[in-house]
Amino acid sequence: MTRTLLITGASGQLGRRVARAAAAARWRVTGTYLREPVEIPSVEWKRLDLQHRDDVDALVCATRPDAVVHTAFLLAGPGFWTINADGAAHVARATAEVGARLIHISSDSIFDGEHAPYSEADAPSPITPYGASKAAAETAVGALLPGAAIVRTSLIVDDDPLDNHSRMIMDIAAGRRSVALFTDEIRCPIAAADLAAAVIELIDLPYAGPLHVVGPDDVSRYELGTLVARRYALDPALLAASTLAESGLRRPADLRLDTGRARDLLRTPLRGVREFLSPIQPV
Ligand SMILES: NC(=O)c1ccc[n+]([C@@H]2O[C@H](COP(=O)([O-])OP(=O)(O)OC[C@H]3O[C@@H](n4cnc5c(N)ncnc54)[C@H](OP(=O)(O)O)[C@@H]3O)[C@@H](O)[C@H]2O)c1
Repeated sequence: MTRTLLITGASGQLGRRVARAAAAARWRVTGTYLREPVEIPSVEWKRLDLQHRDDVDALVCATRPDAVVHTAFLLAGPGFWTINADGAAHVARATAEVGARLIHISSDSIFDGEHAPYSEADAPSPITPYGASKAAAETAVGALLPGAAIVRTSLIVDDDPLDNHSRMIMDIAAGRRSVALFTDEIRCPIAAADLAAAVIELIDLPYAGPLHVVGPDDVSRYELGTLVARRYALDPALLAASTLAESGLRRPADLRLDTGRARDLLRTPLRGVREFLSPIQPV
């Protein structure tokens, strides 16, 4: 029997990857967007603003999904707390109401970056408004739907379409932007396709609670920049290095996540960034 998957934020970087992979795996897919949908064969599109609880309830009730993947969010700007924290609560409540499986996407930013590596047993310790909103979302999801899986991930890297981080590196290397990349800000980037496959695999596993799903290579923002530059045959020497410590910015420095649990649980291979960003060979 064909099963139905509802993906919030299916027009976003991860959401569209999940939508494509789910459609290929023969799910009936309903995807939500806020500004405009994107072209993905066989996906049914619905506009949704997470700030309106009644709209979330109505969509989930009408879709009657077997599973919900909640990716939609806002990094910063007006309404970000309502969208991230309250929106996740609306989705969890509505999903519980119809008895569906929920995969909630969270972030390494729920940690302070001072005590890496972090395991699923570590308590959230956010130091940014965004991190705090994602930690609040986790609390709401855990309380409203204890069976939900909460996937904590890191920088999502993609080439179709190019993700924001890679686009920024291309802009710097092309002289369109001037930003120094930190050598002391550590992340475990993941390929969007790997993360999407892991999320879909997780739907059918009886896993509840937080799960760290990131790539096995930890790199600084600067090293990530050099990997992106080399992949697209740009000169890494065009990238300027700096440090978070010197910048005066309050951001988590080291967000390495322990992925032992995910590696034991999932069959989906999670490639390291040095592998999936290897240079494209000219044909
Ligand atoms: N990207 C990363 O490097 C990264 C790192 C760690 C964790 N994460 C987590 O991964 C998830 C997906 O991130 P992403 O980078 O794929 O996101 P993204 O590309 O920024 O897409 C965000 C999605 O949310 C939708 N959206 C925004 N405001 C909304 C609202 N008020 N109501 C309903 N939908 C709304 C957007 O719709 P429109 O585009 O149609 O407006 C879009 O589909 C997020 O939960 C994020 O916290 C991401």
